[in-house]
Amino acid sequence: FVPVVAVDGPSGVGKGTLCQALANHFKWHLLDSGAIYRVLALSALKQGIALDDESQLAQLALNLPLTFDTYGCDVKVLLDNVDVTNEIRTEQTGGAASKVAAINSVRTALLQRQRDFRKAPGLIADGRDMGSVVFSDAPVKIFLDASAHSRAERRMKQLQDRQNHVKFAEILQEITARDERDRNRVVAPLKPAVDALIIDTTSLSIQDVFNQSITYINK
Ligand code: CDP
Repeated sequence: FVPVVAVDGPSGVGKGTLCQALANHFKWHLLDSGAIYRVLALSALKQGIALDDESQLAQLALNLPLTFDTYGCDVKVLLDNVDVTNEIRTEQTGGAASKVAAINSVRTALLQRQRDFRKAPGLIADGRDMGSVVFSDAPVKIFLDASAHSRAERRMKQLQDRQNHVKFAEILQEITARDERDRNRVVAPLKPAVDALIIDTTSLSIQDVFNQSITYINK
């Protein structure tokens, strides 16, 4: 039995940072499931496939030429052997990702690819439905939440650090719209698994969230 820590929550809540820190701490594998949806959306946009074309998107999802290249703590995301690590991080791609992610056949097509990340000694899985669907048998499930305002602030800082020029009001609006889509979709809507620990990170530091998670995992 390979253990999984499932970490879910809305956009900009700090899942990525927490998961990276947990993976480093335990020296476990890391799944950034959002990156898969982002690469799928980017690939569809590049090929001119409409973001609501269910059969073409499901086909694309099944054959997506995506690889994660890990160099120590650094992960590069490759689409067709081209580095798209930065390109997939824009809010536009995030919005497109949440559109393709609302399609049931797309989610089904990506299930096995995600489950294949579960390898010894363990997996830290970052997403929206890690605890509720993909790894519903995970022994540890954590759901991070925070106010939309503080999530928009964090996302803004992150995008600025990547040299992206962004406006706060636009980020807030995009994050809110994406959340609404993620929470209200029919398939795998964003919500905590019944057995998840919910942490509101609005007024917590990264270190606080890390410490609470470690305490919970080691229990
Ligand atoms: O980085 P951020 O939290 O903003 O987004 P992400 O985790 O990269 O995910 C981008 C989009 O993919 C989300 O808005 C979801 O619609 C979708 N997604 C999903 O449906 N299921 C997952 N397990 C991960 C992401």
